[in-house]
Amino acid sequence: MLVVTLRTLASSSSPFLYNPLVPKPFSNPHPKCRATCPCSYPALRITLYAGCKSEYQSERGLQFETGESFFRHESATGRDLGVLAASLYRKSEGKLRVLDALCGCGVRSLRYLVEAEADFVLANDANEEYNSVICKNLSRMVPSGPGDECRWRVTNSDANRIMTECYLQRDFFDFIDVDSFGSDSSFLRSAMNALRLDGLLYVTSTDGFSSGGHRPHHSFAAYGAYIQPLPYSNEVGLRMLIGGAVREASVLGYRVAPLFSYYAYHGPVFRVLLRVNRGKLPDNRDYGFISYCEQCGNSQAFSWDELGQISCLCTNSKVSESIIVSGPLWTGPLHDTVYVQEMLNLAEEWGWTGRDTETSLEKVLKQMVDESDPRLPFGYIKLDEVASRAKINSPPLRTMMSAIQKEGYAASRSHIVSNAIKTNCPMTVCIRIAKELQQCCSAENVVS
Ligand SMILES: C[S@@+](CC[C@H](N)C(=O)[O-])C[C@H]1O[C@@H](n2cnc3c(N)ncnc32)[C@H](O)[C@@H]1O
Ligand SMILES: [Zn+2]
Repeated sequence: MLVVTLRTLASSSSPFLYNPLVPKPFSNPHPKCRATCPCSYPALRITLYAGCKSEYQSERGLQFETGESFFRHESATGRDLGVLAASLYRKSEGKLRVLDALCGCGVRSLRYLVEAEADFVLANDANEEYNSVICKNLSRMVPSGPGDECRWRVTNSDANRIMTECYLQRDFFDFIDVDSFGSDSSFLRSAMNALRLDGLLYVTSTDGFSSGGHRPHHSFAAYGAYIQPLPYSNEVGLRMLIGGAVREASVLGYRVAPLFSYYAYHGPVFRVLLRVNRGKLPDNRDYGFISYCEQCGNSQAFSWDELGQISCLCTNSKVSESIIVSGPLWTGPLHDTVYVQEMLNLAEEWGWTGRDTETSLEKVLKQMVDESDPRLPFGYIKLDEVASRAKINSPPLRTMMSAIQKEGYAASRSHIVSNAIKTNCPMTVCIRIAKELQQCCSAENVVS
């Protein structure tokens, strides 16, 4: 049975583009009840026809309904990562209060409650029509509980509003999940305000246009970063998001450190888990500009003090038109090695590893551990670019990686692109190595 409210009928807009400025067509006469309870249905409902769109789904063995909400199976790895991190927090701090600020059907809230054993989850989604499905999903597995023992609560408010209210009431959370769309950075500040010090903030961007450098004024408005097209744009998306958080945090007298950064092709989705603390970034280290030279393919990082001296070695230190500069953004490590290793250990303990597929959680976590080698700079080198500059066929990734390592450089695969290498080996050296490998290979073929 499909139940549709007047609001659904009146609005043809996307379910996730909620605009808090548009007045709501009906208001709830019992706000308290509305906030907590499945009995509190919207005032007007129209039953249209049989054939309910709501289906049962299952993730890591937990069943839930999606109703009419926005839900993607492909985001399961992002949810796994959040649950692992929340559980680590629960284990180390002995408590866990979660705010799932844009919860959709409430699948994350459910998983934070059941898998991470959160003491309390506030599940919020601006869309009132999701209220019943969220309540249903949570109450099926976890009784809400009375008064102080209450395990969860559901609200249907704008995320900024609910987080600001929590902040004003000094109702702070240990872990806040902001699963937003596009480059909506307006949630960053209110989320930081509602977070306990040393708490964890799981933020999102799905703005592939901005990370691709296709709208630098937009990325500047959202994250304070003028982004131009770079060959490693999907990593830039993560760095742009972290940089935006660094900027917001500094306004509040906080500093943030990324514990892990995750890119997923679908969407695209850029997700970063940040630890938020009082203090500031020392000397703006890890927050600056990156340059890419179109002529030779090399990339470099520049601090604010070096802004007037940006050049590339291929042009004998003269200012060159072949250089593209983006920033300011995060230039430091994308992950905390120890932390990601702990997540991997927990995933193993829970039996979430070992069933290896191309997109498995285990593979992502292992690549994150490799990527967090402190010798590795920002960006990655795509083997197609090496091949095209060297005018040869693309070398096999493993052969190329071990040849780079044999020359004393650090190298790892990237969880972002399968045919790319993260390395501190300059592009010019990569080209020389690739050519040597090609010659070696041709000589072997002649002999055989
Ligand atoms: C990406 S979906 C959430 C998916 C969900 N977290 C999951 O893992 O399945 C984003 C959600 O944000 C809600 N939303 C959009 N704008 C919002 C706002 N300003 N405040 C709160 N929720 C909002 C939409 O209704 C939508 O359900
Ligand atoms: Zn150059």
